[in-house]
Amino acid sequence: MSVNTAIEILPDESHLAEAAADRFIGIVESTLRYRQIADVALAGGSTPKAMNALLAASPRRGHVAWDRVRFFFGDERTVPPEDGESNYRMTRESLFDPLGIPADHVFRMHGEDDPQAAAAAYAEVLVRELGSRPRFDLLYLGMGPDGHTASIFPGTYSGIDDTKLVVANWVEQFKTWRITLTPHVINDATHVVITTGGSAKADALHGVLDGPHDPNKYPVQLVAPTDGELHWLIDEPAAAKLARRAGAAARSSSG
Ligand code: 6PG
Repeated sequence: MSVNTAIEILPDESHLAEAAADRFIGIVESTLRYRQIADVALAGGSTPKAMNALLAASPRRGHVAWDRVRFFFGDERTVPPEDGESNYRMTRESLFDPLGIPADHVFRMHGEDDPQAAAAAYAEVLVRELGSRPRFDLLYLGMGPDGHTASIFPGTYSGIDDTKLVVANWVEQFKTWRITLTPHVINDATHVVITTGGSAKADALHGVLDGPHDPNKYPVQLVAPTDGELHWLIDEPAAAKLARRAGAAARSSSG
């Protein structure tokens, strides 16, 4: 495990969501000490939804200068923004609307458009807003039970064109296109937080953290910040099969 990686193990999914929310507050607060704006990329899924609800509620909502945060996405499904599958819709409902985040601080991937066109368009948005080498201050990721992260699924990693910033990725498992940030954009982030909760993830997490490096098999293994920090937030059920649990537990005591 590289030196810029920390693992924190939480008792259950509600503590995991709280830890994810508090990590958000801490990282954004420290970012805003030296930057006017914090640029955050969010993930879809159930863990982020629980985190968002905590951030949008008291007392946490009062701990962030929300007018100094801009929101981007790590990936999106190829559906319209009001579709039940949309990561944007989930985030709008659980975070943007309750906090009154202005539309000009939210940059969504246009899942309703042709996938390749939507990927190219979002890459242009990143360059316009963040420069030619976009660097998120904070990027959230999840891990699926198959070890996928963002929308990079098993068997698709080697096909990702990492010379691009954003790609459309065909996911055979779901017979669908997804739009996703590419590995180098993920790894250029200053802070990457991966949340992983639930027993369904225990086998994959064991393979990811204890097994050989094979991001085609376990795409979340691609996450290795270039000069940023990686924070794993894991709950006990997901950590149940970790061989290096003792090490993880020790790290968790150091936070
Ligand atoms: C998505 C997410 C995806 C998610 C994992 C874990 O679009 O579905 O970006 O990569 O992070 O599937 O999701 P949970 O947190 O719901 O387990």
